[in-house]
Order: sequence, then C-alpha cells, then structure tokens
Amino acid sequence: MEAGSVQPVQRIGVPREVFPGEKRVATVPEVVEKLIKLGFTVAVEAGAGEGANVSDDAYRAVGAEVVSDAAALWAGSDIVFKVRPPSADEVAHMREGSALIGFVWPAQNPELMQQFTAKKATVLAIDCLPRTLSRAQKMDALTSTAGVSGYRAVIEAANAFGRFFNGQITAAGKVPPAKVFIAGAGVAGLAAIGTAASLGAIVRANDTRAEVADQVVSLGGEFVKVDYEEEGSGGGGYAKVMSEGFQAAQREMYAKQAREVDIIITTALIPGKPAPKLITAEMVQSMKPGSVIVDMAAEQGGNCELTVPGQAVVVHGVTIVGYTDLPSRLSKQSSTLYATNLLRLTEELCKAKDGVINVNMEDDAIRGLTVVKDGAITWPAPPLKAAPAPAPKAAAPVVEKKSGHGHGSSAPMPAKTLAILFAVAAVLLWFVGAYAPAAFLGHLTVFVLACFIGYMVVWNVTPALHTPLMSVTNAISSIIAIGALVQIAPPEMGTAGRPDEVIRWLAFAGIVLTAVNMFGGFAVTRRMLAMFRK
Ligand code: NAI
Repeated sequence: MEAGSVQPVQRIGVPREVFPGEKRVATVPEVVEKLIKLGFTVAVEAGAGEGANVSDDAYRAVGAEVVSDAAALWAGSDIVFKVRPPSADEVAHMREGSALIGFVWPAQNPELMQQFTAKKATVLAIDCLPRTLSRAQKMDALTSTAGVSGYRAVIEAANAFGRFFNGQITAAGKVPPAKVFIAGAGVAGLAAIGTAASLGAIVRANDTRAEVADQVVSLGGEFVKVDYEEEGSGGGGYAKVMSEGFQAAQREMYAKQAREVDIIITTALIPGKPAPKLITAEMVQSMKPGSVIVDMAAEQGGNCELTVPGQAVVVHGVTIVGYTDLPSRLSKQSSTLYATNLLRLTEELCKAKDGVINVNMEDDAIRGLTVVKDGAITWPAPPLKAAPAPAPKAAAPVVEKKSGHGHGSSAPMPAKTLAILFAVAAVLLWFVGAYAPAAFLGHLTVFVLACFIGYMVVWNVTPALHTPLMSVTNAISSIIAIGALVQIAPPEMGTAGRPDEVIRWLAFAGIVLTAVNMFGGFAVTRRMLAMFRK
C-alpha cells in the first residue's frame, strides 16, 4: 500500500450475510461494474444476493466471479465487504493482513476487535464515519439505512393498522385521517414523517433538539414542543440525556398524544446510552384499540416499556412492532444504497484507480472509519479538529478572528509579526495614495469593500448551504456576459468602431460559455435547495 511501489490488483470479496434473517448484501451488480472500473477484481459468494433479489448470474454478467465456498471466498479476498459485523467463524477464515469494510460497532464488539488484531487486519467501520464532515455524506451508510428504516416503519404501521392513512369522504361514509406521532426526528424520524405525511396522515413529531422543528414542518409534520426549557443537543447533531424535570414534562405531553393519536413511531436514541423510555405501559393502555406503535429503538432496549425486540405483540389491543430488521425488510433498496456508500468509500481509498486501496490516516474521514490498522486498534479516532483552540496570548482581537477558521495548520500570528505587517501595509497604501492615478484608487476601494462584503456574506451562511451558494454565485458571475454582448453588438447599436469578425466570434463563444455557466448554476442551485425542502 505504500506510494510508489507497484502492487498486484486487489480482490474484493462479498460473502453471503450469515446473521439469521439478514437479507441484505454488501454490493449489487451496478456497483460491481464500477468497482471493476476502479481496477479491482470482485468475487461474490454464491447466493449472496438472493435475499435482495439479485441472482448469481446478474453478478457474473458484470464480471464478478461467483464462489460457492464461503471459506475460500474469505481466504481469497484482499478486501471483504460486509453488512453486519462478521461472526467469529467468518473472521477465522479471513486472510492475515487483509481488510474489511462494514458495520462493526467497535464499542459493542470488543472480542471481535481482538480477533481482527490477531489477523493483523485493517478494518474500516462504516458506523464510525465522522458524519458531520460534508465530504463524508456520500459514504454515510447510517443515514441511508436510517432513511430506509423510517420509511419501512410507516409501512409496518400501515400494515398493522386497520384503517386508511388519508381521510376520505365516500358514499359509504366519512373516514378521518389517521393521526401519527413520531418520537425523535433524526434521520429515521424525518423519513417516517415524510412517508406518513405523503400517505395522507396528520403527522406530529417531537425531539429534544429544538433545531429540528423546521425540518419537521418542511416535511409536512407539526412539531409538538415539551413545555420545559432545556437545550437537548449533546453535540455533533446528537441528543443528550435530559434532566428529570424535562422528562416529567415530556411524559405528560406524550401521555396526551398517546390518548389522541392512532399510531406512534419511536426513533429516539442517545449515542452510547440505552434508548430513553418514552412510552409507558399506562400510555399504551390509554391508546385506542387497534392503534399501533412501531418502536424503532427496539434493538437498543426500546422507547416503549412493552416492546419485545424482534417481534410484533398485541397488548391492551395495541399492536407494538419491535422489529429489529427494518432495513433488511427492504433488502433491495437497502443493499443498493449501502453498496453505493461503499463504492464512494472505495473511490476515496483508491484515488489512483489502480485496484489497490490506500488507507490514508491523514484523511479525517478515513481516519475516523479506521478502527483497526494492520492489526493495531486505532479506535476511537481523535475528535475532529472542528475549530482550532483559541489563541493563547493577548494578541489583538483582529488576529484571533483572522485565524479562527483555518484548518489547524496555521498557528496564531505573533503580535510582533503582525505589527510589522501592518506597518508594511500602511507604507504601501501611502505610496498608492500619493502616486497612483485617482481612478485606480476608486477601483481599489471598491475591490477592498467587495472582498470584505463577500467574505462577511459567505461567513454568515450555514455551512450546509455553501454548495447552493457557490452554484448561485457561479451563475451570477456570468454577468460578464454583458461584456461579450457589447462586443458582439452590430455598429448601428452604438459600439464605438466596428469590432472585427474575430472579436465577434470570440464574443459569441463567450456568450455561449457564460450561458452554460449561468443556466447550469441556477439549475444546480434549484436541485440543491430542493434537497433541503423535501
Ligand atoms: P439518532 O438515531 O442518534 O437519534 C434519533 C433522534 O432521537 C435524534 O434526533 C435525537 O435528538 C432524538 N432523541 C434522543 N432522545 C430523545 C428523547 N428523549 N426524546 C425525543 N427525542 C429524542 O440520530 P440520527 O438520526 O442518527 O442523527 C441525529 C442528527 O444528526 C440528525 O439531526 C441528523 O440530521 C444529523 N446528521 C448530520 C449529518 C451531517 O451533518 N452531515 C449526517 C447525519 C446525521
């Protein structure tokens, strides 16, 4: 894996998932094609795609080798793509020094981590991806999986519920719309809100993080507040355990919702902690007969006191669905999204497209994912350098501001250096003022102000909106088209002197190119903003 040395092309192996009932597969034929284009060879265990409706022949058709013996597949692979964490038997077949990419959950699986070290393996745990890095979003399998689960939770609820979701007025009578309450509006909760709203239900939602209220509304839901002031964010977009006072107020509000709604979908999780118990046995009892609860936190202990993980049970006439395999119940969709996440990761690992991965520990995203490197445990990764530490010395406030958004490489400038810089700048400005033509001074002033305003505008925009902002500024910058229009104008339109044909053709090319920039920029902005709307 060292730069410079020529290495044989690596083989990616995709075993059949062995966890009981797991139907997903770590790659799909559309992705195999792209992995082969990156230079890898791909081997898939016979029947690996069966649960996701992908036949062995479909893999063969795109150039993968289908291997019938699982042990041979593991032993013959340089990199293994998995969905669930591997079993002890699977790791036993792993080739020494090979790599594994998949869900690992290192905190919950210390023994597995030890087995990896014994195999001198390199392991990239997709669940450890630093999700707040915008560059990492394309690899974020937690988000794609949670989106699928949220959707499926609503479908499970609809399946167990004896009525329509949407209100209807028919000849046979009036049907009121179903009322759905979603507890926890993270990725899965938001997907559930969107799905339930699109089926026509009245959707309400609650989360301890108040910042999600707008997202709930934008997906067609109503945000229900807890009557208690407390900040619910525990950092990194995740929640924290709330105070006793908040929990009491929240229970009161949830009890009221339980009496009113037909369906409750719970998704509330706090990283590293058991799922908060939000729905008590009394609340279940207070629900109308035929109501449904889907507890998406069942695997982490459940948000409802009466949930039985992995099962659907009926208590007090209420169906409580505690399935822990929601993504697997939409195996084709989950597998396709997951395979794409792994493809994006592989592209990052193989920038040279030479069929060899390079686990670059200098890269924040790769560093976060890598939990074992060549047999050494590298988990947990150090926290991301979100913002550099504040400047230690009493330098002028201006200095601190200037270095505040750096990437950690530049140390704050000493006061002495800054003073010298100011002096040089002042002398330069004096020379410009004394000797430069008056017109230049005017232009310089406009230029400096434009830089300042541009900087302040971008600085104050939420980082998530930087990409749409870039595309729209790109479009607006096409105002230079005016220059080309002036050049192409015929003489009767008042241009001074007729431009020769070459200039007119150049102007024409300029107009065409800036038009692409302009319309393309606006189109991209629209698409990006649409992603935030829905
Ligand atoms: P999660 O699965 O850990 O938790 C689900 C939801 O439950 C969270 O919204 C949490 O606030 C809520 N919750 C926890 N305790 C609760 C309680 N007692 N009562 C009510 N709600 C409670 O979170 P998930 O879905 O994995 O993501 C959390 C956030 O991270 C989301 O807002 C998401 O948008 C953000 N995120 C940001 C990314 C980025 O910046 N690129 C990528 C992925 C997620």
